[in-house]
Amino acid sequence: MEQINFDERIEKRFTGSVKWDGLQSLYGSDELIPMWVADMDVRPPHHLTERLTRRAATGHFGYALFTDEAQQAIQQWFHKRYHVEVDQTTILYSSGVVPGLAHTVLALTEPGDSIIIQTPVYPPFHQIIQSNQRQLVENPLLLDGEVYRTDFTLLEEQMKSARMMILCSPHNPSGKVFGKDELFRIVELAKQYGVYVVSDEIHADLVYTGATHTPILAFDYEKVVLISAPSKTFNIPGLYASYLIVPDPSIRKRIERVQQRHFVHPNALASTAIAAAYGEVASEQWLAQLLLYLESNRDHAIQRIRQEMPALQVVVPESTFLLWIDFKALELDGKSRADWLVKEAGLALTHGQPFGSGGETFERLNIGCPRAQLDQAIDRLSSAYTRLLEK
Ligand SMILES: Cc1ncc(COP(=O)(O)O)c(C=O)c1O
Repeated sequence: MEQINFDERIEKRFTGSVKWDGLQSLYGSDELIPMWVADMDVRPPHHLTERLTRRAATGHFGYALFTDEAQQAIQQWFHKRYHVEVDQTTILYSSGVVPGLAHTVLALTEPGDSIIIQTPVYPPFHQIIQSNQRQLVENPLLLDGEVYRTDFTLLEEQMKSARMMILCSPHNPSGKVFGKDELFRIVELAKQYGVYVVSDEIHADLVYTGATHTPILAFDYEKVVLISAPSKTFNIPGLYASYLIVPDPSIRKRIERVQQRHFVHPNALASTAIAAAYGEVASEQWLAQLLLYLESNRDHAIQRIRQEMPALQVVVPESTFLLWIDFKALELDGKSRADWLVKEAGLALTHGQPFGSGGETFERLNIGCPRAQLDQAIDRLSSAYTRLLEK
């Protein structure tokens, strides 16, 4: 099997990359190491790039179908990886996971309806609910030492009057992988109160040793929608090749109608990307190596932070390439911390405040990059930390 060199540093500047070329406009300096948006600094699997290149070389960029090959690759992926059988007719294309969430909210809820999310959580969850005049109900995850847990007592109260719950499973920013029992309890409550469960599973494939992801489709409940993509797994988020799986035909019809009203169509590379990502054995081999690399980045970063910056509290992620770090002990307010990170540490991190309750004192650090880049970022953070404490 080919050994992948994830240590390779790839030049992304001047490619129109949001992560690298957006630094000046978003953080006010292009001298920073970008450790923010959930976009890795590793090359996608070689066979994937090759298939996309071959597809591009045909010169056919006409309107595209969501092909059988792509849909069957999704089926296969769920069968092999999660032992879940997906009926091909239940799969819908989506031009992104976030648009898929927004369309599902529009299809299944009305203005004023309550939608539960587990904060701190990925900011677009908040935006979708609020910008569509739905009522945002925060069910804050309880931080128990280093582990986040669902507050079931509060959740049951909230379910009584909610229309929908949007799960982030696995959870961004904490990397929490919901256990099967925890999901079962959530689904049972949703059943009892007739609440839709919409599960964003974009991080599902990036789960580390000791944890197991359970798709929402594994439970016996018709009011569920799963939304996902190979985008985080294979580092192709800019291709907007995503999908929804909607087992219930009437729910599916409602979502399809909203998609039609919003003119959702696959771009010309989407089906090829999904088919190559999910349909080839080489992808699984690549992913197995990526997970080892990321897990060792995770362990290394946590060890360094604990040793060199003991006042920072790191949540140990069970999945994905994001480290959620509490800076509370530094006693900087959000604005001062943001300035300090840019001016003193030379880093672009994702600030915790937009993730909602419980996120205010946190920063999110993306560890999906070559080890040398990660070390350089931690070196900068560590020396800024030391200078700050010496003051
Ligand atoms: C939980 C979650 N959902 C959705 C997305 C983005 O999905 P898309 O770019 O396909 O809309 C991200 C990206 O970070 C994410 O973390």
